[in-house]
Amino acid sequence: MENLNRRQALTLGAALGLTTLAATPQAWAWSSSGSLAGTDTVADPFQVWDPVADEVAARVLADGAAASVNAAWGSWRDNRDPLPSGMPGYVTAYLQQVNRLPSWADPALLAQSEKLYTRLSSYLFVSESLGSGILSTVIPREARAVYWSEGGADMKARAAKTFTFGYDLHSARAWQPTGHFIVTANKTRLVHAAVRNLLPTSAKFMATADQPKPISNGDILRTFHSVATYTQNNLKKWHVHLSPAEAAADLHAWQVALSLLGVRDEFIPASWSDARAQADQMLWPVLAGTFEGNELCKTLLGYVQDPVAGLDTGFVSELVRYLIGDTYANWLNIPRDFLARAIIRTDWPLYVAFREATSWFMPNTYYLFDQAIRAIAMLYLNNGTSATYTPITFPAANRPG
Ligand code: HEM
Repeated sequence: MENLNRRQALTLGAALGLTTLAATPQAWAWSSSGSLAGTDTVADPFQVWDPVADEVAARVLADGAAASVNAAWGSWRDNRDPLPSGMPGYVTAYLQQVNRLPSWADPALLAQSEKLYTRLSSYLFVSESLGSGILSTVIPREARAVYWSEGGADMKARAAKTFTFGYDLHSARAWQPTGHFIVTANKTRLVHAAVRNLLPTSAKFMATADQPKPISNGDILRTFHSVATYTQNNLKKWHVHLSPAEAAADLHAWQVALSLLGVRDEFIPASWSDARAQADQMLWPVLAGTFEGNELCKTLLGYVQDPVAGLDTGFVSELVRYLIGDTYANWLNIPRDFLARAIIRTDWPLYVAFREATSWFMPNTYYLFDQAIRAIAMLYLNNGTSATYTPITFPAANRPG
């Protein structure tokens, strides 16, 4: 599949002179028989948004209540926390409905995902932070939405917030009362709802928009594939063994995450092969370079490269090239370093093989190092204020200027 994508990407790149516009989306054809709902229908997820959450966000913005929501969210962190006081009543009423697991959530699988993510911690960090993070800049709709939203003007803070989502999902107690993920997902859902109200008022965003408002169910699934399906593919490529039960636990954690983000069951893939089929239709063919994506990438790589003390900056660029492939990296003008390239291509597989061979007798040691690296990255993104947490905030405006 990767070759096919590269071919498609190359053809598109050549046709458009390497800096490209999004490919025209094809009619939606993925059947929901491969979804959690299991119904054999073909509804288009790109025509579905999140009406109830969008309405709540619209009222918060109209009432000028973003500041009170953010003040209340400051004390709302753990899954077990009661809903905070100080928010408008309609926000509380909405959260009372959605701040819970879907009825089909399987606690045993979620508990298994916590264990799995502890074991996979460093691979997830590399694949999701560096690989998916940069991949997101060649998803045209996402790149444009992020660039023109308020957070696009401060990518360091934004990266830290997105990091919080991954951090909370992959935590060893993500779903437990003292974990944070259910709260983080609900905040994110409302932030997306705010963005759906705000971005259509940005002339600069709308100048290139190809949908009435951003972040449809389909767009969320696209991002899910660029993170989770892509990471499943990487783990396979790197020969990291996952038992069928572990692969199922990974998928299930993401299925619940998607549901908490407002994606309907009829669009959520039921298996990894359904997920790959969906990604083949909705993600890989639409990747393309944009002005906004290139700007975001430059900014993000600047942040990633700085704190990696002692490493030639070419090392990080080549690690990104290794993770996302040269076609997309060329669109993004990511620099080359042939020495680092040779080292990474030889040593990363050796590192993974060594780790896999030895992790059964030193799993906790690896986890401690992994946690430390993640904490340092978060600390850097937060300008030294917190190693584990960046508050997710409800935006009240678009990108200034
Ligand atoms: C905000 C995660 C899909 C655009 C956020 C935040 C998180 C997050 C954690 C809150 C942090 C912040 O304010 O930056 C996710 C996840 C997704 C997803 C896990 C799918 C699995 C998307 C998609 C788009 C998008 C598909 C656009 C097409 C945005 C924008 C913001 C945001 C514009 C607000 C940025 C700001 O103004 O600060 N997202 N997102 N997201 N997301 Fe997403």
